[in-house]
Amino acid sequence: MKKIWIITLFPDFFKPLLETGVAGAALRGERGQEFEMNMISLRNFSPKDFKGVDAAPFGGGAGMVMRPDVLKNSLIEGIVKPGNYGENYKEKLHIVFPNPRGKVWNNDSCKSFAQSAWSEDSKKDIVFICGRYEGIDQRFIDLYIDEEFSLGDYVLTGGEIATMAIIDSSLRFSEGVLGNRNSHEDESFQNNLLEHPQYTKPREFEGVNVPDVLLSGDHKKIAKYQHVEKIRVTKKFRPDLLIDGDHGER
Ligand code: ADE
Repeated sequence: MKKIWIITLFPDFFKPLLETGVAGAALRGERGQEFEMNMISLRNFSPKDFKGVDAAPFGGGAGMVMRPDVLKNSLIEGIVKPGNYGENYKEKLHIVFPNPRGKVWNNDSCKSFAQSAWSEDSKKDIVFICGRYEGIDQRFIDLYIDEEFSLGDYVLTGGEIATMAIIDSSLRFSEGVLGNRNSHEDESFQNNLLEHPQYTKPREFEGVNVPDVLLSGDHKKIAKYQHVEKIRVTKKFRPDLLIDGDHGER
């Protein structure tokens, strides 16, 4: 059983993820591997002598910074104690902080996260810390965070959407989550190529026909056509992917 703990000011963000779609089914333990996802509401962990979870930054500047003591309290009282991780809890938890400053999250990150974090071989449970405001105190990052990931060069209003994107996109690579294992083979970013265009019924739509080759039944020809299409689409939309890439030339 792999436990996922999420420290957040907005636990409700995660309800739809749990309740909907393929990721929801996986997180409910309906896709082979057992998961348990727990949301920890940061607001419950501010000490009695002050209210709130954030404070103005030392040195000045706009916005507020999340306090390290509140975050630590939520980790210990919300996760370590109820989860019985004991004194060596740092060895039993992998703590992730989505942060615009982190390593850019991409298809390779999804695969390696699936192999390491989600794998049942790794005995560690996973914690996500969702930041809000201007970020979190650096001391908490230095002392407790194992990995920081950025979704891209823009700033979200908080780490919740980033956490959901990380969970959703990496769970797809976890054993048994996508029923059809080949689903990964053809999708975008495999071999540094984008996916080829897809067509389905009807054969003619508003005067535009499905390309003949796809109806030919000649699998070799179709594969070749789709490969050429992948290169065309990648050149058009993401030429940066083709540089130095292995394009699976056949
Ligand atoms: N939190 C706010 N913006 C973010 C981003 N771009 N990636 C990850 N976490 C974030």
